Formats: sequence, C-alpha cells, structure tokens
Amino acid sequence: MGGAAQGMEKTVGKMKAELGGIVVLDFGGQYTQLIARRVREQQVFSAILPCTTALEEIRKLEPAGIILSGGPSSVYDQDAPRCDPGVLAMGIPLLGICYGMQWLAKNLGGKVVPAERREYGPAQLRLEHSESHLFGNFPENLKIWSSHGDHVHALPEGFQATGKTANAIASAEDTKRRIYTVQFHPEVKHTERGTEILKNFLFKVCKAERKWSGAAFLEETVEAIRLKVGTHHAICGLSGGVDSTVAAVLVHRALGARLTNIFVNTGLLRKNEFEHTLEMYRERLGLHVVGVDATERFLEKLKGVSDPERKRKIIGNEFIEVFAAEAERLQREQAGDIAFLVQGTLYPDVIESVSVKGPSATIKTHHNVGGLPETMPFHLIEPLRDLFKDEVRSIGKDLGLPEEILVKHPFPGPGLAVRLLGEITRNELSTLREADAIVVEEIRRAGLYEKVWQAFAVLLPVRSVGVMGDGRTYGLTVAVRVVESEDAMTADWVRLPGEVLERMSTRIVNEVPGVTRVVYDVSSKPPSTIEWE
Ligand code: XMP
Repeated sequence: MGGAAQGMEKTVGKMKAELGGIVVLDFGGQYTQLIARRVREQQVFSAILPCTTALEEIRKLEPAGIILSGGPSSVYDQDAPRCDPGVLAMGIPLLGICYGMQWLAKNLGGKVVPAERREYGPAQLRLEHSESHLFGNFPENLKIWSSHGDHVHALPEGFQATGKTANAIASAEDTKRRIYTVQFHPEVKHTERGTEILKNFLFKVCKAERKWSGAAFLEETVEAIRLKVGTHHAICGLSGGVDSTVAAVLVHRALGARLTNIFVNTGLLRKNEFEHTLEMYRERLGLHVVGVDATERFLEKLKGVSDPERKRKIIGNEFIEVFAAEAERLQREQAGDIAFLVQGTLYPDVIESVSVKGPSATIKTHHNVGGLPETMPFHLIEPLRDLFKDEVRSIGKDLGLPEEILVKHPFPGPGLAVRLLGEITRNELSTLREADAIVVEEIRRAGLYEKVWQAFAVLLPVRSVGVMGDGRTYGLTVAVRVVESEDAMTADWVRLPGEVLERMSTRIVNEVPGVTRVVYDVSSKPPSTIEWE
C-alpha cells in the first residue's frame, strides 16, 4: 500500500446528504465554525471552505446557498482576504455576514468606510422593511451582536437597506440577485431571532432541504467504508475518549470482525481507567480490542524528566512506537491484510489543516495521542472528518453507545503526566490518581459531572506543614481544577458549592497518604490554561 501521502486523501466521496447544503466561505472570522454548526442544526449540511476556494470546488458541493463569513480585516487592507468575484455570478443565493457584507458591498460597487463609532458587542437593530425575506414578521426592534470597525456607507445599486443601528446600515438585500447582507452576527446566541434569520435564508431564500441527519450519515458512511475497504482488514487506536470510540463502533458496524482495535495503557491514565474502559469496549460494545500495557516503557522513558514539553514529546513518540509495533505484529499475523487505519479526526481539525489565506485563526498547540507515524503502510479511514463534536456525540447516541462514554470529560493524551508537576514517580502518580478519583467522585455525587467541562486533581511539588492527630506532617499539595467551557478555547472556573469543596478537601487529606493541603484553582482561560502543564 502507499505511504503517508495517502493519509490526506478523503476517505469517503461527497455523500448525498452533503450535497445541496450551504458553503461557508471563510474570511477568518472568529464565528465561522459557529455559522456552520447553526446551519447543520437545521439539518442542512454545511462545509467551510477557505475564501480562496476555486469556483469549481464550490460547485462540486452543489450548494443551495453560500454564506460569506466575518473576518478581522478591513476590505481596504493590502492583504485583505478575498474570494473569486465569480461567486457573485454563480446564481447561487449569498448571505454576507459582517466582513462578508463589506466584501460584497465593495465588490458590487458600494462604499465601505471606517466607522466613526465602532460597534463591538450588543447593539440595537431597527428594522425598516417589513417585507424583507430575512426578517419577515419580526418586531421592529431587535437586540443584535456586532463586532466591526468598518461599515457600509453607500449600498450597491439594486440593494435596499432593511435595518439600521444608531451608527450603521445593519442589513441590506437585493432580492432580485438574491444577495443578502447583515453587519451583525445572527449565528451568535446574543442576537435575538438570529436562528430565525439563518432559517429564513436557508429555507425561504435558498430553498434548502433538511436532509442532513444522523441516520443518513450513518447509512451512507457505513456503506462507503464497506466499499472502500473491500475484503481487507483495518486497525484503530482507541484512547478511551468519545471520538475514537464512535469511530471504532462505526467502522465495526461496517467491517465487523475485520476491525481490530488497539488500546494502549501509558501508565498515565486515571484510576482503573484502563481495565474499566477495556471491559466496556469488549463487553458492552462488542469490539475486538488488543490491550497493550506499556506502563513500564513509558515510566522508564520519563524518569528524571520534569520539563512539560519534553514530557509531551516523549509520551507522543513512545505512543507511536508502541502502536506501530503492535500494528506490525498484527499485520504479520494476518499476512499483511491490514490495509486501513481508522482515526477519529474531526471537522475542526480538517478545517484547520486546509485553510490557506483567510482561515479562522485557531490557537492549537496539542496533538492528540495517536499522531500518525508517517511511514505506516496504511490508508486512512476518517469517518468523522465531516463532523463537529456535538454531531459525533449525537451519532454515538444513534449507535447505542453508553451514556457514560458520551458524556465523558476530555482527557489529555499525555494524561496524568501533565497534571503531576515536575518529575514523575510511581508513588506520586498513585497519590495523584487517588486524589483525582475523589474529585471526580464528589463532582458526580453533587450531580455536576455532566454540567462541567472537566474536573480533575493536579499534584503540586509543594510541601507544607500540617497537623494530624498529635503529629506534625509535611506533605504535598493537591490543586483541584473544575472548569466550564464550550470548546476548551476559553474556560471559566466553576463556582462550586462550599460543601462540595469541603468534602473533596477533607476526603483527599484523610484518604490520600502524603497530601496535607488542598487548594482550589480560581483561574480562567485566558490568561491561564485548563491544564497546569
Ligand atoms: P489547555 O490546557 O491548553 O487545554 O487549556 C485545552 C484542552 O486540551 C486538553 N489538552 C490536551 N489534549 N494532548 C491532548 O490530547 C495534550 O497534550 C493536551 N493538553 C491539554 C485539555 O485537557 C483541555 O481539554
């Protein structure tokens, strides 16, 4: 089989459910992914493409409409992102949002100027045109969410203003050419009736069909995987998280016993995680899983290392070696018939890697465990590469995955290594594991597990004096971290009830030998991060 270049090929051609949806052309806006998700919430497929995408690529998706996203630039900037003006003549309905509106206005002969008063955050929209396709039957005044420095000063010919704020034309349309523009962000929850505005564009203007559903996705994907794999075999690396599990169960549905999964114990997992997850995979999901306990190897390599980035690198490399060795062994045993590797890549990763000029700038510093060895002789199957995280959960539900896995908190690839500050020793790992298990237990007991993004313990190499019984102690410090977040890009610490904190603290100090002090982390992200290392 071919080499790593194969890895970039698209697993499955465009599915029927993906045609006739919406193309979102990305000018680098912070809300671009949100636009695409809002469209999909209406059961209409959406694909985010860089604004520079060639017209024929756009056409391949047979879009019912095109949305031009927001972006941080000014249309007059030297390197302002632009798309092929040919989109204006495709005859496909257009909706320009924020920068998208300004780009459209400028390219159709209107005038965009720097605003005297910039609008960031909430603003008031006054609708001026009751017949508008986007706003039909709305009340005259709406709260909206804006984020712009420039605005459209003079509309292109054929356009009619449909709404204004105190400072700017907030919306305008040319119903003849089916071009619609809004200066504000309908995709953001703070915009009143934002979803209805998008629905009006999708269904009244574009006449899109609601055909993007979990059932359609499953059916088409399973069929496509069968076709692609033929009579070959596949392997999959499991991490215990929802993405790799959903990917494996989906491929298992297509290939049955021809899928073998590998689950590596790095020795850095949570308490009982390896045994418990392995049992769930095998007993409850019926997957064929090879469990590889590589604890010794990992801990040996991490000896004496305390720099966080070095820890990450060592763990990443070690993981790849263990995985590759296991894959080779399976390959030998099956006489080279394993031709495919399953990965749980999601849409946000794909968007990030295809974006060129004008992409949504995302800060991403982590690679999931399982980063591909470039020389591995497998084709890729990435059944989730068109899905957002919430869609993966929903597909997982359709596949009958236990709730336990669907609501599981994210866990970093390098595991407890980045939650045990400084050098990793067996003793301290065991201390951290016990403390962490108490944090999670108490969060569950308080009914908060599903309401928070992550909850965990961090072991600090900080000793302090305590008193237990009649003796003085001098033990370690555990920091408790509980955050809420939507996508891990930003996060806030959770205002836990005092009683929950008290129970955690009392239990950790009493039940975990060597710990004398518990502190609660009250930092938000930014400026802090979720993990401590
Ligand atoms: P930070 O600490 O950057 O974490 O705020 C954001 C999210 O990413 C997870 N995380 C990682 N995931 N490998 C991973 O697979 C890593 O090295 C890694 N570091 C952090 C973290 O748990 C949080 O959900």
